[in-house]
Amino acid sequence: MTELVVRRLLVDMESPIPRHWCDGDAFRTALFDALSMSFPVGEQFFIDSVRGGFKALPPGQQQRFESEVQGFIGQEATHRRLHSLYNGHLEKLGLRNEWEPRARERLRLMQGVDIRHWLAITAANEHFTAIMADWMLRNADLLGDRDPRLATLWLWHSAEESEHKCTAFDLYQALGGNHEWRVRWFRRITFIFLADVLRQTASNLRQDGTLWRWSTWKSAASHLFGRRGLVRQTFRPWKAYLRRDFHPAQQDSGASARWLAENQARFAPVGR
Ligand SMILES: [Fe+2]
Ligand SMILES: [Fe+2]
Repeated sequence: MTELVVRRLLVDMESPIPRHWCDGDAFRTALFDALSMSFPVGEQFFIDSVRGGFKALPPGQQQRFESEVQGFIGQEATHRRLHSLYNGHLEKLGLRNEWEPRARERLRLMQGVDIRHWLAITAANEHFTAIMADWMLRNADLLGDRDPRLATLWLWHSAEESEHKCTAFDLYQALGGNHEWRVRWFRRITFIFLADVLRQTASNLRQDGTLWRWSTWKSAASHLFGRRGLVRQTFRPWKAYLRRDFHPAQQDSGASARWLAENQARFAPVGR
Protein backbone atom coordinates (compact mmCIF):
# COMPACT_ATOMS: atom_id res chain seq x y z
CA MET A 1 0.00 0.00 0.00
CA THR A 2 1.22 3.49 -0.87
CA GLU A 3 0.86 6.51 1.40
CA LEU A 4 -0.37 9.27 -0.92
CA VAL A 5 -0.12 12.87 0.23
CA VAL A 6 -2.41 15.49 -1.32
CA ARG A 7 -0.46 18.71 -1.90
CA ARG A 8 -1.70 22.22 -2.59
CA LEU A 9 0.65 23.74 -5.12
CA LEU A 10 1.80 27.24 -4.19
CA VAL A 11 1.67 28.80 -7.64
CA ASP A 12 -0.36 31.68 -9.00
CA MET A 13 -2.42 30.45 -11.93
CA GLU A 14 -4.19 33.79 -12.42
CA SER A 15 -1.67 35.61 -14.60
CA PRO A 16 -1.64 34.75 -18.31
CA ILE A 17 0.68 32.22 -19.93
CA PRO A 18 3.23 33.38 -22.52
CA ARG A 19 2.49 31.98 -26.00
CA HIS A 20 5.65 29.84 -26.19
CA TRP A 21 6.06 29.37 -22.47
CA CYS A 22 8.18 26.20 -22.87
CA ASP A 23 11.66 27.53 -23.48
CA GLY A 24 10.41 29.54 -26.48
CA ASP A 25 9.96 26.24 -28.33
CA ALA A 26 6.73 26.03 -30.36
CA PHE A 27 6.71 22.21 -30.61
CA ARG A 28 7.32 21.43 -26.93
CA THR A 29 4.77 24.10 -25.92
CA ALA A 30 2.15 22.63 -28.27
CA LEU A 31 2.81 19.07 -27.08
CA PHE A 32 2.55 19.86 -23.36
CA ASP A 33 -0.48 22.11 -23.95
CA ALA A 34 -2.15 19.23 -25.81
CA LEU A 35 -1.55 16.90 -22.85
CA SER A 36 -2.96 19.48 -20.47
CA MET A 37 -6.11 19.70 -22.59
CA SER A 38 -6.78 15.99 -22.05
CA PHE A 39 -6.43 16.05 -18.27
CA PRO A 40 -9.69 17.47 -16.88
CA VAL A 41 -11.90 14.88 -18.60
CA GLY A 42 -9.32 12.06 -18.41
CA GLU A 43 -8.54 12.50 -14.74
CA GLN A 44 -12.25 12.63 -13.87
CA PHE A 45 -12.58 9.24 -15.55
CA PHE A 46 -9.63 7.89 -13.53
CA ILE A 47 -11.25 9.15 -10.32
CA ASP A 48 -14.58 7.53 -11.24
CA SER A 49 -12.83 4.24 -12.10
CA VAL A 50 -10.90 4.07 -8.86
CA ARG A 51 -13.93 5.10 -6.81
CA GLY A 52 -16.08 2.49 -8.58
CA GLY A 53 -13.40 -0.17 -8.19
CA PHE A 54 -13.11 0.55 -4.49
CA LYS A 55 -16.88 0.23 -4.00
CA ALA A 56 -16.87 -3.10 -5.85
CA LEU A 57 -14.29 -4.62 -3.46
CA PRO A 58 -15.52 -7.00 -0.79
CA PRO A 59 -15.67 -5.08 2.55
CA GLY A 60 -12.78 -7.13 3.93
CA GLN A 61 -10.48 -5.75 1.23
CA GLN A 62 -11.69 -2.15 1.28
CA GLN A 63 -9.74 -1.34 4.41
CA ARG A 64 -6.47 -2.18 2.67
CA PHE A 65 -7.18 0.37 -0.08
CA GLU A 66 -9.13 3.06 1.76
CA SER A 67 -6.42 5.59 2.47
CA GLU A 68 -4.63 5.03 -0.86
CA VAL A 69 -7.88 5.55 -2.81
CA GLN A 70 -8.58 8.75 -0.86
CA GLY A 71 -5.08 10.02 -1.65
CA PHE A 72 -5.40 9.08 -5.33
CA ILE A 73 -8.72 10.91 -5.68
CA GLY A 74 -7.34 13.97 -3.84
CA GLN A 75 -4.25 14.12 -6.06
CA GLU A 76 -6.13 13.71 -9.34
CA ALA A 77 -8.84 16.20 -8.31
CA THR A 78 -6.11 18.79 -7.57
CA HIS A 79 -4.45 18.10 -10.95
CA ARG A 80 -7.80 18.57 -12.70
CA ARG A 81 -8.40 21.88 -11.00
CA LEU A 82 -5.01 23.36 -11.87
CA HIS A 83 -5.02 22.07 -15.44
CA SER A 84 -8.49 23.56 -15.93
CA LEU A 85 -7.05 26.97 -14.95
CA TYR A 86 -4.08 26.35 -17.27
CA ASN A 87 -6.46 25.37 -20.10
CA GLY A 88 -8.47 28.55 -19.50
CA HIS A 89 -5.32 30.53 -20.42
CA LEU A 90 -4.83 28.41 -23.54
CA GLU A 91 -8.37 29.25 -24.60
CA LYS A 92 -7.58 32.94 -24.19
CA LEU A 93 -4.54 32.41 -26.44
CA GLY A 94 -7.01 31.20 -29.07
CA LEU A 95 -6.32 27.44 -28.84
CA ARG A 96 -9.30 25.14 -29.35
CA ASN A 97 -9.48 21.93 -27.32
CA GLU A 98 -10.67 19.27 -29.79
CA TRP A 99 -9.42 16.34 -27.71
CA GLU A 100 -11.84 16.81 -24.83
CA PRO A 101 -15.13 16.49 -26.78
CA ARG A 102 -13.76 13.41 -28.57
CA ALA A 103 -12.76 11.79 -25.28
CA ARG A 104 -16.14 12.65 -23.73
CA GLU A 105 -17.93 11.00 -26.62
CA ARG A 106 -15.86 7.81 -26.26
CA LEU A 107 -16.30 7.66 -22.50
CA ARG A 108 -20.09 7.69 -22.90
CA LEU A 109 -19.73 4.19 -24.33
CA MET A 110 -18.40 3.02 -20.95
CA GLN A 111 -21.71 3.52 -19.13
CA GLY A 112 -22.87 0.22 -17.65
CA VAL A 113 -19.65 -1.62 -18.58
CA ASP A 114 -17.94 -3.85 -15.96
CA ILE A 115 -15.77 -1.68 -13.67
CA ARG A 116 -12.73 -3.87 -14.41
CA HIS A 117 -12.71 -2.48 -17.96
CA TRP A 118 -12.72 1.04 -16.52
CA LEU A 119 -9.80 0.10 -14.31
CA ALA A 120 -7.87 -1.57 -17.14
CA ILE A 121 -8.24 1.63 -19.19
CA THR A 122 -7.21 3.74 -16.21
CA ALA A 123 -4.22 1.51 -15.38
CA ALA A 124 -3.07 1.71 -19.03
CA ASN A 125 -3.34 5.51 -19.04
CA GLU A 126 -1.65 5.70 -15.67
CA HIS A 127 1.27 3.67 -17.00
CA PHE A 128 1.57 6.10 -19.89
CA THR A 129 1.39 9.05 -17.55
CA ALA A 130 3.93 7.54 -15.15
CA ILE A 131 6.55 6.83 -17.83
CA MET A 132 6.12 10.30 -19.34
CA ALA A 133 6.27 11.81 -15.87
CA ASP A 134 9.54 10.05 -15.15
CA TRP A 135 10.93 11.29 -18.49
CA MET A 136 9.90 14.84 -17.63
CA LEU A 137 11.43 14.72 -14.15
CA ARG A 138 14.72 13.43 -15.57
CA ASN A 139 14.71 16.08 -18.32
CA ALA A 140 13.29 18.98 -16.31
CA ASP A 141 15.52 21.54 -18.03
CA LEU A 142 13.49 21.00 -21.23
CA LEU A 143 10.63 22.93 -19.59
CA GLY A 144 12.79 26.07 -19.69
CA ASP A 145 12.47 29.07 -17.37
CA ARG A 146 10.15 31.41 -19.29
CA ASP A 147 7.29 30.50 -17.00
CA PRO A 148 8.57 28.95 -13.75
CA ARG A 149 4.96 28.45 -12.58
CA LEU A 150 4.22 26.07 -15.42
CA ALA A 151 7.53 24.26 -15.03
CA THR A 152 6.65 23.71 -11.34
CA LEU A 153 3.10 22.64 -12.22
CA TRP A 154 4.37 20.00 -14.66
CA LEU A 155 7.03 18.65 -12.29
CA TRP A 156 4.63 18.48 -9.32
CA HIS A 157 2.04 16.68 -11.47
CA SER A 158 4.74 14.32 -12.76
CA ALA A 159 6.00 13.56 -9.26
CA GLU A 160 2.48 12.65 -8.07
CA GLU A 161 1.74 10.57 -11.18
CA SER A 162 4.82 8.53 -10.46
CA GLU A 163 3.77 8.28 -6.83
CA HIS A 164 0.25 6.91 -7.45
CA LYS A 165 1.01 4.72 -10.47
CA CYS A 166 0.07 1.47 -8.69
CA THR A 167 -3.43 2.36 -7.43
CA ALA A 168 -5.60 1.56 -10.49
CA PHE A 169 -3.43 -1.45 -11.35
CA ASP A 170 -3.71 -2.94 -7.85
CA LEU A 171 -7.48 -2.42 -7.76
CA TYR A 172 -7.80 -4.10 -11.16
CA GLN A 173 -5.91 -7.10 -9.85
CA ALA A 174 -7.76 -7.17 -6.53
CA LEU A 175 -11.03 -7.40 -8.50
CA GLY A 176 -9.74 -10.38 -10.47
CA GLY A 177 -8.86 -8.47 -13.67
CA ASN A 178 -6.85 -10.74 -15.97
CA HIS A 179 -3.65 -10.27 -17.96
CA GLU A 180 -5.28 -10.65 -21.40
CA TRP A 181 -7.72 -7.78 -20.94
CA ARG A 182 -5.09 -5.60 -19.26
CA VAL A 183 -2.82 -5.97 -22.29
CA ARG A 184 -5.65 -5.70 -24.80
CA TRP A 185 -6.75 -2.36 -23.33
CA PHE A 186 -3.15 -1.17 -23.15
CA ARG A 187 -2.68 -1.73 -26.90
CA ARG A 188 -5.94 0.07 -27.68
CA ILE A 189 -5.12 2.94 -25.34
CA THR A 190 -1.66 3.26 -26.88
CA PHE A 191 -3.20 3.70 -30.31
CA ILE A 192 -5.94 6.09 -29.14
CA PHE A 193 -3.60 8.13 -26.95
CA LEU A 194 -0.92 8.57 -29.63
CA ALA A 195 -3.49 9.51 -32.27
CA ASP A 196 -5.13 12.03 -29.91
CA VAL A 197 -1.92 13.64 -28.72
CA LEU A 198 -0.58 13.98 -32.28
CA ARG A 199 -3.83 15.46 -33.57
CA GLN A 200 -4.09 18.01 -30.77
CA THR A 201 -0.39 18.95 -30.98
CA ALA A 202 -0.68 19.49 -34.74
CA SER A 203 -3.88 21.46 -34.23
CA ASN A 204 -2.23 23.68 -31.57
CA LEU A 205 0.67 24.34 -33.95
CA ARG A 206 -1.67 25.09 -36.84
CA GLN A 207 -3.66 27.53 -34.74
CA ASP A 208 -0.41 29.06 -33.52
CA GLY A 209 0.83 29.50 -37.11
CA THR A 210 4.00 27.47 -36.46
CA LEU A 211 3.08 24.04 -37.91
CA TRP A 212 5.06 24.45 -41.13
CA ARG A 213 8.19 26.03 -39.70
CA TRP A 214 11.45 24.10 -40.09
CA SER A 215 12.32 24.80 -36.43
CA THR A 216 9.10 23.10 -35.29
CA TRP A 217 9.89 19.86 -37.13
CA LYS A 218 13.50 19.93 -36.05
CA SER A 219 12.42 20.24 -32.43
CA ALA A 220 9.84 17.45 -32.88
CA ALA A 221 12.46 15.08 -34.30
CA SER A 222 14.93 15.81 -31.54
CA HIS A 223 12.47 15.80 -28.60
CA LEU A 224 10.70 12.65 -29.73
CA PHE A 225 13.48 10.53 -31.24
CA GLY A 226 16.78 12.17 -30.24
CA ARG A 227 19.07 11.04 -27.43
CA ARG A 228 16.79 12.59 -24.80
CA GLY A 229 13.66 12.06 -26.89
CA LEU A 230 10.35 11.07 -25.31
CA VAL A 231 9.73 8.12 -27.62
CA ARG A 232 13.28 6.85 -27.40
CA GLN A 233 13.43 7.01 -23.60
CA THR A 234 9.97 5.64 -22.87
CA PHE A 235 9.83 2.75 -25.34
CA ARG A 236 11.33 0.17 -22.98
CA PRO A 237 9.16 1.03 -19.98
CA TRP A 238 6.16 1.14 -22.36
CA LYS A 239 6.90 -2.40 -23.51
CA ALA A 240 7.40 -3.67 -19.97
CA TYR A 241 3.63 -3.36 -19.38
CA LEU A 242 3.04 -6.26 -21.77
CA ARG A 243 4.89 -8.71 -19.53
CA ARG A 244 2.75 -11.13 -17.57
CA ASP A 245 4.68 -10.41 -14.35
CA PHE A 246 4.66 -6.63 -14.79
CA HIS A 247 3.84 -4.40 -11.83
CA PRO A 248 4.12 -0.57 -11.87
CA ALA A 249 6.23 -0.68 -8.68
CA GLN A 250 9.01 -2.37 -10.69
CA GLN A 251 9.63 0.97 -12.40
CA ASP A 252 11.98 3.40 -10.71
CA SER A 253 10.34 6.31 -8.83
CA GLY A 254 13.60 7.90 -7.67
CA ALA A 255 13.18 11.07 -9.75
CA SER A 256 9.74 11.68 -8.23
CA ALA A 257 10.93 11.17 -4.64
CA ARG A 258 13.91 13.47 -5.25
CA TRP A 259 11.79 16.27 -6.71
CA LEU A 260 9.31 16.09 -3.82
CA ALA A 261 12.12 16.12 -1.24
CA GLU A 262 13.93 19.05 -2.86
CA ASN A 263 10.88 21.23 -3.58
CA GLN A 264 8.96 21.22 -0.34
CA ALA A 265 8.72 25.02 -0.36
CA ARG A 266 6.58 24.83 -3.51
CA PHE A 267 3.60 23.04 -1.98
CA ALA A 268 1.65 22.58 1.23
CA PRO A 269 0.39 19.14 2.24
CA VAL A 270 -3.39 19.14 2.69
CA GLY A 271 -4.63 17.71 6.01
CA ARG A 272 -6.48 14.45 5.68
FE1 LIG B 1 -2.90 13.53 -12.61
FE1 LIG C 1 -2.77 9.72 -12.37
